[in-house]
Amino acid sequence: MSDIILGIESSCDDTSAAVIRDGYLLSNVIASQEVHRSFGGVVPELASRAHEQNIVPVVSEALSRAGIKPSELTAIAFTRGPGLLGSLLVGTSFAKAMGLALDIPIVMVNHLQGHILANFIRQEGKAVEEPAFPYLCLLVSGGNSQIVKVVSPLEFEILGQTIDDAVGEAFDKCSKMMGLGYPGGPIIDKLAKQGDPYKFKFAKPHIPGLDYSFSGIKTSLLYFVRDRMAEDPQFMENNKEDICASFQKALIDILMDKLIKAARQTGIKDVTIGGGVSANSGLRERLVAEGRKRGWRTFLPEFKFTTDNAAMIAIAGYYHYLAGERTPLDVAPVSRIADF
Ligand code: KG4
Repeated sequence: MSDIILGIESSCDDTSAAVIRDGYLLSNVIASQEVHRSFGGVVPELASRAHEQNIVPVVSEALSRAGIKPSELTAIAFTRGPGLLGSLLVGTSFAKAMGLALDIPIVMVNHLQGHILANFIRQEGKAVEEPAFPYLCLLVSGGNSQIVKVVSPLEFEILGQTIDDAVGEAFDKCSKMMGLGYPGGPIIDKLAKQGDPYKFKFAKPHIPGLDYSFSGIKTSLLYFVRDRMAEDPQFMENNKEDICASFQKALIDILMDKLIKAARQTGIKDVTIGGGVSANSGLRERLVAEGRKRGWRTFLPEFKFTTDNAAMIAIAGYYHYLAGERTPLDVAPVSRIADF
């Protein structure tokens, strides 16, 4: 008999539901919340309200696109955390209620493990090579920057992580500082394609081991722009593309230096990326180029699976389900990874 898993994701500002059958994706529906755009960032109260409005139509649409009746579901996987508590509460409560109504198990998923396992979402008619365990994943999003050794779909070892800001935050804050809009990553990525990455230099942090730091480089951009604008008020407008290209290159250099170090230290040659920043075209090109140079096998998640989506939650939940994990109905969402 097939295992049919409904995945639910509501950790931040995307309400998403997906259905997978025996690891193969049948549907993946995402309702993004436009309401935050004018605020220059996600407003938690508005996010949870929008999730409440979206969750029923999104789940119904996912089931209908998959051609699956609720009674055919085997289990419901949901994001327990980390994320915004109010947002997580909507997905968690919905999963519990639906699981109870259908009398099927619910399985909690760590959102970050979902991002890491995005490479394992199988799609009918698309043969995709999968990394072999253990492999390295550079997990880069708005809330995290980590190098993770993925031992199995259920076993993860964090080799290094940011001691302050996440790299996605650095992209977002750079964009905000330059008055370019939110979310900053895609905007900077686009402008960087038209700029010279070698035009300006930003100081790299010196952090021991495999950890990252992105707060210093953000401040260095702030001072750089402030000083140049004092000399020439048109500086930013006239150099937007070059600033974005140089800043993006600096961030990618920082990310890649430690990833190369991690691969050297562990001897692991299968390397993946995951999380919202893994959509960055400069980072994707650089990973492939470094991989070619160093004899790595590199794996890039499809663009649609880089940002928050329920397909990755469903696949992660599927592995937990197969391992016999079931989550009790008194489970509460958690906002921080340390509490997971
Ligand atoms: O994983 P994600 O969707 O949300 C969480 O943080 O959980 O990641 C969002 C982050 C934002 O900081 C956004 O600016 C960044 O991913 N991002 C990008 C790109 N697309 C999204 N950063 C760089 N280049 C991109 N193309």
